[in-house]
Amino acid sequence: MKGLMDTSNLTLEQISNMLELAQDIMDNKEKYSDRCKGKKLATLFFEPSTRTRLSFEAAMLELGGSVLGFSEASSSSSTKGESVHDTACVVSNYADIIAMRHPQEGAPMVAMQAASVPVINAGDGGHKHPTQTLGDLLTIYQKFGRLDNLTIGLCGDLKYGRTVHSLVEIMKRYENIKFVFIAPSELEMPNYIKKNLSKDSYRETKSLEEALPELDVLYMTRVQRERFDDIEEYERVKDVYVLDVEKMQYAPSHMCIMHPLPRVNEIAKAVDKDERACYFEQALYGKYMRMALILQLLGLDDAHTDFEISLDADKEMNERVCKNPKCITKTERDIEHLVKNSEFEAACCYCEKEIG
Ligand code: NCD
Repeated sequence: MKGLMDTSNLTLEQISNMLELAQDIMDNKEKYSDRCKGKKLATLFFEPSTRTRLSFEAAMLELGGSVLGFSEASSSSSTKGESVHDTACVVSNYADIIAMRHPQEGAPMVAMQAASVPVINAGDGGHKHPTQTLGDLLTIYQKFGRLDNLTIGLCGDLKYGRTVHSLVEIMKRYENIKFVFIAPSELEMPNYIKKNLSKDSYRETKSLEEALPELDVLYMTRVQRERFDDIEEYERVKDVYVLDVEKMQYAPSHMCIMHPLPRVNEIAKAVDKDERACYFEQALYGKYMRMALILQLLGLDDAHTDFEISLDADKEMNERVCKNPKCITKTERDIEHLVKNSEFEAACCYCEKEIG
């Protein structure tokens, strides 16, 4: 199986090759403008998106390839009851590579198992969003010239924000990275992410003002309205953090403000003029990293990077059933329940939630 499900599927060497390739693409656009000639990317988006879908499409077009797909579940056969498995089998006949976004956690993993072409997770529910993270890494690298020795504040919806989950997963592997998780108790970073961090590599606070002075990067996030079961709870927490010009006085002059976008109220528009605001540039870097990823997955990069993924399922535990209501195993027919046994606890291979 080939694809990208999560940043944990990548080695640091692969990431550094990808950063180099993205830099080369930025510097020598002509050299790459025909590389994907005759290749097709399918964007299967079962959930709304502006940046991710358009940047995937722009990436493929700039590489000389073409794109097909759909941008909402209502225009796909899922409305007729088609499974993710079948959709992936069918689309493998029409495209050379698939990018899939889906509201259920682990859906792209089901697609990758069924497809005969590489599959990229373009965001699965509140779980992971590895290609956003690749763009985030390029942004941080462009700003600081390094990916180590940084203090990164993540602020807002750390519970449902899939971008922060993927970012923490990768950044924790670099030297001397400290995280400050800034969230109200309702939106705290989930345990399945924290349990993989050393105790001294992160701290949690509810106060943005208190955290700001020590940060190199501030990663703001939107409260993910669509993931709340209780809309009143969303109303209570939706405007809990608003970064404005006044609060920016507490931030170091070299700090970089990032946001995966879309923004709602969490960054005041006046902050856009601040030199430290990097979020629009960040969206551009995302496109270059997607170009690098597409080339690598199609074997069209000069280094011929290997993207083979094998599932580390523990066959003896596969009888155990995932209890996460947002997991793809709840709706996909005839799915094999795959469980992995980490050193901590048994977890679902699709959504990674613990199975008690
Ligand atoms: C993010 C996402 O879809 O998770 N957006 C994006 O991909 N640029 C963040 C969000 O929707 O809040």
